[in-house]
Amino acid sequence: MSASREHFSSKIGFILAAAGSAVGIGNLVGFPVAATKNGGGAFLLIYAFFVAFICLPVMLAEMGLGRRAQHSPYKAYSELGQGLKRWRLAGLLATITPFMIAVFYMVITVWIFGYLVQSLLGNLDALASEGFFGNFVNDYDFIWYLVGVTIIINFILVGGVRKGIERASKILMPTLFLMLILLVIFVLTLDNAWAGVQFYLVPDFSQINGSVINGALAQAFFSLSLGMGILITYGSYFRRSDDIVTSGKLVAVTDTAVAFIAGLMTLPAIFAIYPDTNPDSLSDSSVSMIFSFFPNIFLALSESVGYFAASIAATIFFLLAFVAAITSLVSIIEVPTSSLMEKRDISRKKALLIMGIAITVLTLIAATSFGLVPWFTAFTSYAGADKSVFDVIYDVFYDTILPLNGLLICLFVRFRWKRSQLTAELSEGNQAYATSWLEKYVSFAIGTFIPLILAVVFINTV
Ligand code: PFF
Repeated sequence: MSASREHFSSKIGFILAAAGSAVGIGNLVGFPVAATKNGGGAFLLIYAFFVAFICLPVMLAEMGLGRRAQHSPYKAYSELGQGLKRWRLAGLLATITPFMIAVFYMVITVWIFGYLVQSLLGNLDALASEGFFGNFVNDYDFIWYLVGVTIIINFILVGGVRKGIERASKILMPTLFLMLILLVIFVLTLDNAWAGVQFYLVPDFSQINGSVINGALAQAFFSLSLGMGILITYGSYFRRSDDIVTSGKLVAVTDTAVAFIAGLMTLPAIFAIYPDTNPDSLSDSSVSMIFSFFPNIFLALSESVGYFAASIAATIFFLLAFVAAITSLVSIIEVPTSSLMEKRDISRKKALLIMGIAITVLTLIAATSFGLVPWFTAFTSYAGADKSVFDVIYDVFYDTILPLNGLLICLFVRFRWKRSQLTAELSEGNQAYATSWLEKYVSFAIGTFIPLILAVVFINTV
């Protein structure tokens, strides 16, 4: 174990940092809308089942592997994989994946930051005007917002594990929770809000089919930040005496609770303003919901509560989304950063500088997907396939590679590291685990049906 490796100072510090990673844009809009369109309470039940029985074991495996190795993904896979090429490749994939996701998530975070600034300036009517988003993504102001977001992320990451990630999470996560609760209370007091709650919660099992089940698992996997190398890296910041099992459970519960509570804000807001909404007509895309639909909801709200109050609600909403996005971005950029520090034996500052330049350049390229620089947009668009760089990153790394990374870690535990080693690792800090039902379940499931299911999801998305 490297003597100089930093560790989280407390269990709550780790839980908040990992929850900060897990709670993201997907929780606030993606999850509630997916639930409402796909059977309400029935979807929620399936989702909760997947979190507990499929995602939690994978999460524990990632964190266990990280702590055992005391390294970020690449070195963790190569050392515990005894240098075998196939496991080094798995480590490489677990390092490239977060890097690419960081690029595409960065683009969305920069837009959220722009919307936050605009709503703070009282420009809600402009945000809600026809065609605003289309012009906004092609505006050179993008660069200034990108600079702002980059500075905030570096400000957090340069402090390292304790003074950076952990400290920021301890401030930002309670703030996020408070803002969410405030908005839920506010929204639930609006007329007709309960119609939204009904659509969200009343189960309709007739909507459940293969693709909904597939979608629920993919959403749960993504929402818990699995398959992104993040929990391997955060696991490596655990001390040997820390209780991984309880922490993992709490992170899963927190993330699911925030997603559930966000539904009590998102859906009632939609139905309070547009009582005749047909749930099927809601957009699947979180991007169009956040940037096109929500500003309209807030503007329409100003008719009943006044422009000022509506602007405040909009500002809190975008601040909430921004905090959720920043804490996720911090966790994902930490993966390639710490890999670089290890591989090249360089300081955190130097690694952040290199990562900062690489991500900024790629973010700018991805941002041109929407026409920021017309000739470049044409150049970077897939010939004939009508896919931009942004779409390609999204399709490949968001949808497809995450279950593959999950599958690889299951195979790694089963065939190389061995399940008894995982049990031994997870029992450190939690001796009761070794003889628990959970241990029996995890050891069985991770070597049998979980990889099978992940393989099916992977093949389906390919
Ligand atoms: N759990 C995050 C979410 O629900 O939005 C997923 C995530 C995405 C984490 C991107 C980190 C990240 F950079």
